[in-house]
Amino acid sequence: MPENISRRRSAFLVGGLLSAALAASSLAWSQQSPVTPAAVPSAMLDSSKAATSQAAFLRAWTVFDSPRCKNCHPAGDAPLQGDDSHVHIQNVKRGADGKGLYGMKCHTCHQDANLAGANMPPGNPKWSLPPAKMKMVIQGETAGQFCRQLKDPAKNGNRSLPQIMEHVSQDDLVGWGWNPGDGRTLPPLNRPDFVAAMQQWVDNGAACPQ
Ligand code: HEC
Ligand code: HEC
Repeated sequence: MPENISRRRSAFLVGGLLSAALAASSLAWSQQSPVTPAAVPSAMLDSSKAATSQAAFLRAWTVFDSPRCKNCHPAGDAPLQGDDSHVHIQNVKRGADGKGLYGMKCHTCHQDANLAGANMPPGNPKWSLPPAKMKMVIQGETAGQFCRQLKDPAKNGNRSLPQIMEHVSQDDLVGWGWNPGDGRTLPPLNRPDFVAAMQQWVDNGAACPQ
């Protein structure tokens, strides 16, 4: 074999080996990328996800804890009223189904829509408290206590996280909070921001604040 050909062939061989090596190393690289998840210990990742989740829940909690939500999620068996969340006058009570007791049914005064004017009854077709066996208490709870209650199937009407997300993003009675009638303040976040905070809470593991 003439010398120049053999030199060319060994150059070709070396080049081939080099590019094969490069391909292999870039394959190994691409299997490792994105770099961080493989490199960061999983305990650290979990704790930063949990912190993101908890912070998101604390943002959403400002809405839950606002009078528009809290007034229908009392600790006792009477609804609350107004921005100061005083106990509902007229001795209104929850009843087993949340729709009131005896002659004091919610729909006696609360219609399908808000009535115009200050101190007029707000309205929605489903206007009621949660039933006695699933009170979903907000009043007096910490963010962490409420978070654990919200996730507990024994206390939330057997709902999964996707069902909770559906409730907060679609339910019409939750929506009333942002259309509460004359003279009532709105929750501190708008509904899309509230839903986004709840979704971030779920996506990062639904971790509860302490
Ligand atoms: C007029 C009373 C009323 C108001 C106002 C109200 N709720 Fe409720 N809430 C209910 C009732 C009734 C249920 C039980 C509904 C059911 O089981 O479908 C409930 C249940 C819930 C649940 C538990 C259901 C689930 O899927 O996890 C969540 C969460 C909730 N409400 C959030 C809110 C938020 C957020 C607001 C304020 C923006 C709010 N609620 C305002 C009456 C109310
Ligand atoms: C006798 C009439 C009457 C009955 C019965 C009644 N309500 Fe009311 N409710 C009112 C009036 C009037 C207001 C408005 C008060 C105001 O804005 O000062 C009101 C306000 C409320 C509010 C306050 C909303 C807010 O965010 O400030 C809630 C919650 C509420 N009612 C829940 C209920 C529930 C639940 C029932 C049935 C268990 C019920 N009410 C039964 C008359 C009634």
